[in-house]
Formats: sequence, structure tokens, C-alpha cells
Amino acid sequence: MEQKRFYITTPIYYPSDKLHIGHTYCTVATDAMARYKRLQGYDVMFLTGTDEHGQKIETKANEAGVTPQQFVDQIVEGPRGVKDLWKLMNISYDRFIRTTDDYHVAAIQKIFKKMYEKGDIYKGTYKGKYCTPCESFWTESQLKDGCCPDCGRPVVDAEEEAYFFRLSKYADKVRDLLVNTDFLQPRSRVNEMIRNFIDPGLEDLCVSRTSFKWGVPVDFDPKHVVYVWIDALFNYTTALGFMNDKYPQSDFEKFWPADVHFVGKEIVRFHSIIWPAMLMSMEMPLPKHVFGHGWLLLDGGKMSKSKGNVVDPYILAERYSADALRYFLLRDFPFGTDGNFSNELLINRINIDLANDLGNLVSRTTAMADKYFGGTLPENQAEGPEDGELLAMAGELRSKYEADMEKYAFQNALADVFAVISRANKYIDETAPWILAKDEANHPRLARVLYNLAETLRICTVLLQPFMPETCVKIFTQLGTAEELRTWDSAEAFGRTPAAAVLHKGDNIFPRIDAAKELAELEALEAAQKAAAKESAAEEEPEGIAMIGIEDFAKVELRAAKILSCEKVKRSKKLLKLTVNDGKRERQVLSGISQWYAPEDLVGKTIVLVSNLKPAKLCGEESNGMILAADCPNDDVKVLFLDDSIPAGAKIR
Ligand code: MSP
Repeated sequence: MEQKRFYITTPIYYPSDKLHIGHTYCTVATDAMARYKRLQGYDVMFLTGTDEHGQKIETKANEAGVTPQQFVDQIVEGPRGVKDLWKLMNISYDRFIRTTDDYHVAAIQKIFKKMYEKGDIYKGTYKGKYCTPCESFWTESQLKDGCCPDCGRPVVDAEEEAYFFRLSKYADKVRDLLVNTDFLQPRSRVNEMIRNFIDPGLEDLCVSRTSFKWGVPVDFDPKHVVYVWIDALFNYTTALGFMNDKYPQSDFEKFWPADVHFVGKEIVRFHSIIWPAMLMSMEMPLPKHVFGHGWLLLDGGKMSKSKGNVVDPYILAERYSADALRYFLLRDFPFGTDGNFSNELLINRINIDLANDLGNLVSRTTAMADKYFGGTLPENQAEGPEDGELLAMAGELRSKYEADMEKYAFQNALADVFAVISRANKYIDETAPWILAKDEANHPRLARVLYNLAETLRICTVLLQPFMPETCVKIFTQLGTAEELRTWDSAEAFGRTPAAAVLHKGDNIFPRIDAAKELAELEALEAAQKAAAKESAAEEEPEGIAMIGIEDFAKVELRAAKILSCEKVKRSKKLLKLTVNDGKRERQVLSGISQWYAPEDLVGKTIVLVSNLKPAKLCGEESNGMILAADCPNDDVKVLFLDDSIPAGAKIR
């Protein structure tokens, strides 16, 4: 019979910064699933990689004074970079794709052209809100209080020539896919997609940009670069040799369509609407499932490098082991929903589940086998009334676990295994082997008790392999488990180990952690990390500022102006609407300072006005110019007030 196949992917990560615990979470989950399928005998393809193009990376590289390629190389291949992290975490990926790989770039150009020739990509005009300092386009809905979501500064209406993908053409088919199949999971995500995107109507998607260079050039119109999502999504197929010679076409035939894409909730839209539509356009089969997992939150909010509150997986894995971190991530947080990360949860989980329940069971079982029988159990064994429940639970474990794993319910699968481990610990108390040991006549019973413990542990360990691969090898060594008894088949039923089992007492697999001491140390490490983030943000600033000549400065016209009236803009939390006298006329100016000033604080004051700024519309109101203010410590902002003796219209230079 032909071997069954399984193709699973992580999202490809942006190497704009070092990866954090949130990225690690998704990759660990994917790895556990890949290992589980391999354990079941599947021929698995596990793909991960990095999404290396785009404006953000171009800007970061500029700031760092290196080329974008050098920048991403460092983060992906450099010390403690992405690949090092996956090595540390024992991620068993089969392929790693980088979107800057030549074969991928060439394939994306062909794919783009094919959709263009089909008429599904066409040239049009991209209209959006543009933040000049960030050089970024935004849609109305992405704006925060009418301003750039990245820097908070005002945006202007702008247009550029761009290519569009006819997403609207596929709206009905995508709706059908979402509503009438189990393509997107968990089901709650389907409702989100229909309500937020499909029902309001799908608009065609902008798929090229001319405002930055760091991307795959459109080969038949090279001033355009392919804008992120075509480049990113098709990685799942180019890494199998689709439209390129890097890998044999047979890989594509063998593994496509993917069994499942694991993705975080904020990119479910791209994977469940845009991706199927693009595949429909290319007349390719659709992936079988997309699973949208939740986020790991910190103090209820998103982790962010600029806040300095990201959790460093390197530190945690090096301190507590990759296996402990892997176990914690998949045991504590239900995969489909958000969860709150904390060091305390991590340490408690390690102490309670791994050191107490699992670690103690292993050490008690092997120590008793050693003490009472020199490590080798006698074949003469006697059953007892306490055995029934434990044997039943251990015997049923694999099928329960399988049902959970098939639903990607890692938390439940682990809970099933640990319920059996707890039951086994209780079985020790019930059977009291140390009392049985006192009387030679009870030795057959004692041997059976130890056998039952070892066999229960073996079954649990087989099923823990996808989660804690290194620890399981250690446990198998202590239990003396032969290779053929570490397999999926061998965990189907209780009693596969020969009666005369040979156990080896070894080191504690998970030493207990001194929680108070560790928490204090972690806190100190994190405080140092936060301070470093602040410092480097402060250091980066001057580097990010390009020097200009006096002729550039001369282009900016600064004039004194008097504030005549001022009120809040109704649709905005940030904006104030000012009427100012610029010496020649009255004009309306908007300013994002409402958090720091009440309208009455400003009326009558003389301020500095950038008077030759192009008019812009913010929250439906016109702004003709900008008033100057200073960013002060502690997030304070102070408007530059001038001496009132300076007349309106005076030029400032
Ligand atoms: N490059 C795109 C994905 C393209 S896939 C064709 C991208 N990259 S990302 O680096 O920003 O995010 C990658 C994944 O990490 C996303 O699935 C995202 O949800 C996940 N996570 C980032 N922070 C996370 C948490 N705090 N918690 C859980 N996952 C989170 O988006």
C-alpha cells in the first residue's frame, strides 16, 4: 500500500526583528503535528520559512545602514536568528523557504504573469491614505483616529498606479467554500470572515507597488514590485517545486494540496479568502484546511518589540529546556483562542506536571525496580484488584489522544496523557509497593505493580514524543524500551512490553524549580531587556534622520499665526480643529493634540505654522497646514508658543 502523506505549514515569518514567543508558539504547534503524523507512519512534509520582502524591511535595513538582503540574512541565518531558534526548539522542518530565494522569485514572476494574462490581474490606480514620513499607504479602515497607525502623524490622500487582483470575481465561490465546507477552522473564524469581509463585499486587491523597491519585480513592468501577499502565499507551492526547478515537480504532485496551514488569527483573512481565490484563478486545488490559532498575549495585550515587552524564547528554552517550553505552550493555551502568557504559569506548569507528576512517576518506578529487583522484573507476576482502572485508562489512551490531535486540540491531548500519569501516581499510593516489598510472598504482586507502572509510562511516553522529543528518549532509556515499542502501533494496547522488563534508574528528568527565585531572576532579565529596547530606540533615532541641505529647509515655509478659535473634531479622539490668522487670511488647521490641550488653552496664542503644506483631509475635515509641537518625555507633547509680540504672518527662518 502507498504511504499516506501529510503536508503542513507554518506562516512564513517577517524577519524584521528577532522572533518572539508568539512565533515560537505557532511553530511548536506545527512541529508537534508533523511529528505526530510521522509517528503514525505518514510521509510528512513540514514547511516553514521567512517572508523577506516589503517596505518595513527596506526601511529597517536603511536605518541599520545595511542592504535589505544583509539585514534579513542576519536575522534568518545569523547567531540567535530564526534558524538557530528553530534548532534550539527542536523544530523538525523538512524545508525552509526564504522568499528572497532565486527559485521563489522567478516562480512568483511567472505566477503573476499567468494571472495577468488570464485577465485576473489588471492595471489600475491605487487610492489611499499616504503617510509621507513613513512612505506608507493605508486604507481608511487601517487609520487610527484618522492618522497613520505606525507613527500617529496626519496622512494625505494619494494615488499611485498599481496592479489589482480580481478578488471580487471569486467572492461567491469563496463564500461557498467557507460556509459549506470545513475548510476554515475553528468554525467561529468562519463567522468572523463572513461578517467582516464577505458580507460587506470583497473589493479587488492591490497586488503591486511602485513606492518601494524591496520586492519581486513585475518582470513585464519593472517599476512595480509584487506587493507582499502573492509573493508570500505562493511560498506554500513554490517550496514544492511549483513553477521552478529547485525541487522536483513530483514533490508538488505528491504533497499539494496541503493538509493544513496553521496561521495566526490576524492573517486568517489572507489564507481563507485571498489565498483560495488566487488558487482558483490559477486553477489549482485548494488546501484542505486552514486553522486560525489565537495569540499569546502579555498582560492582556499584544507583544511588541517597541514596547520592549516581547518574551524571548531563547532565554526560556535555555533556562528550562526546549521540551519544557514546548509542553507549556501546548498544554496551557487552547490552540484556537487567545491566552495570557506569564512566567508564573510556565514555572507552575513545569513544577506540577513535569517535575511532580511525570518526573516523580519515572523516578519512583525505576528506583523501586532497582531497589527491589536489581532493575529486572521477575516473570512471575500476580494481578490485583487495583489494576483494572489503570489498565483500562492506559489501554484507551491512544484513541482518545488521536481524536484530540485530529482536531488540533493539543491541550486536550496532553490533558488525556497527564490524566493517566496522575492515575498511575495514585496507583502507587493504593498498592503501596514499599509494604509489598517487606514480604517475599508478595513479590509477584510487587513485580506486577511495577510492570503496570512501567507499561503505563511507556504508552504515555510514546504519545508524548511529538511534544517533548528529547525527554521521551530519556524516559525510554530509563524504562529500557526497545525501538519497536516506541511506535504508534505499540501504544494501541496495554501489555506489549515483555514481563521481564529491564529498567535503569537515571537522573531526574525535570528537576523542581525554586519558583520565587526564578521569577525574580526572570523579572530582572526582562527589565534589562526593556531598558535595552528603550536605549536602542533612543540611539536609533539620529541614525534614521537623513541630513538635508539648506535648500531643502528653504522649501518649508514657517509663519507665525494667531489662533482665533478652536474646537474638538467630533469623529476623532486626537484631533483639534483650529482657525488661525496667518497674516493674510484665516485658515483651518487640524492638529493631533487633543490629548494634551483643551480648546480654551489655545485660543489667542501665537504659534508656528507650516504654511505651505499641501491641504489634507482628516476625518472628513480639511487641514491647511500644520502647527509645530515638541515631543517631550513621558509621552507629553508641548505646542511651540511664540512671544505674542510677534505679528501673524512673520516668516520664521
Ligand atoms: N509574513 C506574514 C505571514 C505570511 S504567510 C504566507 C506574517 N508574518 S508575522 O511574522 O507577522 O507573523 C507570523 C505569524 O506569527 C502569524 O501567524 C501571527 O499570528 C503569529 N504571531 C505573531 N505574534 C503572535 C503572538 N503573540 N501569539 C501567537 N501568534 C502570533 O504575518
